[in-house]
Amino acid sequence: MNYVHTSIMPEELLSHLVPQSPDPIMVDATCGEGGHTHLFLSAYPDLTVVGVDRDREIQKKARVRMEAFGNRFKPVSMWFDAFFKEAEDDSFDLILFDLGISMFHFDESHRGFSLRKGEPLDMRLDSEDPISAFDVVNRYDEKKLADVIYAYGEERYSRRIARAIVQQRKTKTIATTDDLAGIVYKNVPPAYRYQKIHPATRTFQAIRIEVNRELDRIEPALTEAIRTLKVGGRLAVITFHSLEDRPVKWLFRNLAQEERPVLKILTKKPLVPSEEEVARNSASRSSKLRIVEKIREEERHGT
Ligand SMILES: C[S@@+](CC[C@H](N)C(=O)[O-])C[C@H]1O[C@@H](n2cnc3c(N)ncnc32)[C@H](O)[C@@H]1O
Repeated sequence: MNYVHTSIMPEELLSHLVPQSPDPIMVDATCGEGGHTHLFLSAYPDLTVVGVDRDREIQKKARVRMEAFGNRFKPVSMWFDAFFKEAEDDSFDLILFDLGISMFHFDESHRGFSLRKGEPLDMRLDSEDPISAFDVVNRYDEKKLADVIYAYGEERYSRRIARAIVQQRKTKTIATTDDLAGIVYKNVPPAYRYQKIHPATRTFQAIRIEVNRELDRIEPALTEAIRTLKVGGRLAVITFHSLEDRPVKWLFRNLAQEERPVLKILTKKPLVPSEEEVARNSASRSSKLRIVEKIREEERHGT
């Protein structure tokens, strides 16, 4: 099978996330095709990895890739916030979040994540979710659309783009990525069309985040994940843009600065990929890695 995603900062993760107890359990909260999971299962022969991913298609690939590890790999098809909410306290030794989507989604999913492939507008990680990119683009009112594009794409021409989308759909449904990319392209100032990235990149990111409620899930998932981590266990988060990184940074800081802190931050400054990694894998260039260790049980009501 062909695996299209290159895992980020593998050496940094392996050197900081070292299992300490017998029969350790790691949760790979964003397993994807399983690049990081494979790395950890290969490095630590006693380790079991619970591989969480909401996308059933990509999880099929991970299952095949991990066949040789037998029941040391336990795939789970859930949103990571729901998974940690249901998990027991003090269950896991290591937890990894590698936020966002995989190269699989751009290259192979045919769900309209890439703006260059002329695919139907879908962008759902969970194909049973009621709202797809088609619904956002064709049904949201202009203000809501502009707010999404501004908040989740940090797109300065959000209002213009939302207005153009609403105008266009009065005459014709916006059904494909080409339709949407074309509307954005035609309605931004000419100078904005000739940057390094396509002028619709931010709009596509925003719609994808809205469809999958990506940002809403981060803080609840991390809060519950810390509860499920054993004392002495470590949790690592890889982010790709400041919208993802900010809630991670603040939550860690708050929990590390309490009077009786629950966490110790192991990366005062986030780790970033080496120049060599960026040269090898340009998709890694904006990534940041933050790692914490749980140093004490949280106080619980009623205990
Ligand atoms: C960046 S990729 C992970 C790549 C993986 N670490 C590797 O090395 O192959 C992120 C994965 O997380 C999944 N994902 C994103 N948000 C999720 C969420 N809230 N719950 C569950 N899975 C999620 C996506 O479907 C995607 O497969």
